[in-house]
Amino acid sequence: MLDLHGIDNVVLEARSRDYVEHRQRAGLIEQATVNFLAELGVDERLRREGLVHGGIELRFDGRGHRIAMDELTGGRTVTIYAQTEIVKDLIAARLQRGGPLLFDTEALALGDIDGERPRVRACGSEGEFDLECELIAACDGFHGIGRPGMPPALLRSAGHSYPYAWLGILAEAPPSCDELIYCHSDRGFALHSMRSPEVSRLYLQVAPDARIEDWSDQRIWEELHLRLAQDGWSLTEGPVLEKGITPMRSFVAWPMRHGRLFLAGDAAHIVPPTGAKGLNLAAWDVHILGEAILASFEQGNDSLLDAYSDTCLCRVWRAQDFSYWMTTMLHAEPEDPGGYSRRLQLARLAYVCSSESAARSLAENYVGIERI
Ligand code: DHB
Repeated sequence: MLDLHGIDNVVLEARSRDYVEHRQRAGLIEQATVNFLAELGVDERLRREGLVHGGIELRFDGRGHRIAMDELTGGRTVTIYAQTEIVKDLIAARLQRGGPLLFDTEALALGDIDGERPRVRACGSEGEFDLECELIAACDGFHGIGRPGMPPALLRSAGHSYPYAWLGILAEAPPSCDELIYCHSDRGFALHSMRSPEVSRLYLQVAPDARIEDWSDQRIWEELHLRLAQDGWSLTEGPVLEKGITPMRSFVAWPMRHGRLFLAGDAAHIVPPTGAKGLNLAAWDVHILGEAILASFEQGNDSLLDAYSDTCLCRVWRAQDFSYWMTTMLHAEPEDPGGYSRRLQLARLAYVCSSESAARSLAENYVGIERI
């Protein structure tokens, strides 16, 4: 966005190009994110290869129920396109324009974020160097130096951790469904997603301390069959191309700005993966930040920069609530004396699938609420 407006900028990437282009992440893109990528001119492959979905299935008690997202939201949809493919497209666009994108270059420390010329100390293949600039966008994830670079006395945070994790696989198997299946079962949650007409993406709820070595491909398929079981429906297996475990956490730190340091994406907030809001929230933050930087640099108007944190946090908290709600509706609680949580979940699911207004609430959050 800055490149398109002729504003000099440097991107520091701690990892190698190969690493970031192959890291498997979620792949559910909200319409607002698609529109943003279109604005940047990096939507060509996404339009060609992305799978547009107008609904999802909620499966519980061994039966499926369709939520018609498009009908409930005036025609809005989501697109299935892997985050790692967006990363490839953004890198290609950046390299084509020639702006600096330094791989294997780690940001080590921030300096003078209260002053006119904040600094980043970084280490790349040629050793350490200082980068002086006008503004720093810390898009460096939960474990980066951006958030710890905020004054500790000003930064607040709150969060929640869940007693489960997700085990995800990428399988060379045609998807066994046209739309995503979010499945509640007494054995735990399962999600059937996809990447293409030939590749399925599947997830299983596992214990938070589960080890990938304990989950053979055969055990994963057996568990998927048991959880997703429905009369007249079967799951197609195929070679497992990739597998990994994702922790589940909710977290928000605020404010998202101090002085000339701006936090974006996972540097400031984490959602559990259910509903795939992480990438979409990050894209929203950088869109808001990009517009604010342009207003400041091109028109001398800092009001959007001043509003950045509050503007982002409205949507962040909406997504926090939705992700928590989806997660706790669908995952088996390991401690559930008398089965109270399980009964509440089934009551919520039955309500969402029988009341149009309850379904609409799910649908509008799922496709993404833009302005709150
Ligand atoms: C995917 C991941 C999610 O967390 C989700 O809710 C839907 C889809 C995915 O990776 O395809």
